[in-house]
Amino acid sequence: MIIAIDGPAGAGKSSVARACAKKLGFKCLDTGAMYRAVAWLAVKEGVALDDDRALGQLADECRIVFEHDAGDPIAKGISINGHDVTEAIRTSEIDKAVSPVSAAASVRHAMTAQQRRIGSGGDYVIEGRDIGTVVFPDAELKIFLTATNEERAHRRVRQNADRGVGSIEYAEVLADIIRRDEADSSRGCAPLKAADDARIIDSTGTYIEDIIENICVLAHMTRAEASERA
Ligand code: DC
Repeated sequence: MIIAIDGPAGAGKSSVARACAKKLGFKCLDTGAMYRAVAWLAVKEGVALDDDRALGQLADECRIVFEHDAGDPIAKGISINGHDVTEAIRTSEIDKAVSPVSAAASVRHAMTAQQRRIGSGGDYVIEGRDIGTVVFPDAELKIFLTATNEERAHRRVRQNADRGVGSIEYAEVLADIIRRDEADSSRGCAPLKAADDARIIDSTGTYIEDIIENICVLAHMTRAEASERA
């Protein structure tokens, strides 16, 4: 079973996806981390961020590996071509570079293929922007998680402070979130948007535990309905 969780930056997708996966005994895939890793590699290799062909080659040939502790379905880190980039992909520099990189059709093509390969290997909660619309349009459960710009910026500031990477300046983070939403929503290839059959959940002012519980109940109901039909 695939649970797709899409939505804009800072809506709480990562926390919700991880917690739901833990509760349901699913694996979890953070597709944003994959685009960030490719952006990191492009910056490191000096590839122009508007060179679709060169970016595509990089994305096709790179080896992205999620690092797990034994038996833990939640990745604790990510590497690309053998470089541990777990923290390096969360800097402001990569926040900016990832928009043009993730807008390149060639990069999306390569990442979509990798994500489909990974997701076909069992029960997964997969978070991103285009999981329910493009990567897994037949996902059994689709969630589109949103929150106001201000709430998302506050959360990102707290997250960056906890991680010790990225900006902790509210105004800067808010401006970046608005810029990234605009770039993600207006790109020609696989833009950020809710699938027609997604359930839209606004997490503004809501306890994250309630959202997690809500999604887990929906997952159990979806599974029960599927086994009744079978
Ligand atoms: O979820 P995130 O903020 O880590 O994602 C980083 C960037 O990657 C974000 O600007 C949009 C892009 N992205 C995407 O285009 N498609 C996805 N499935 C996941 C992320």
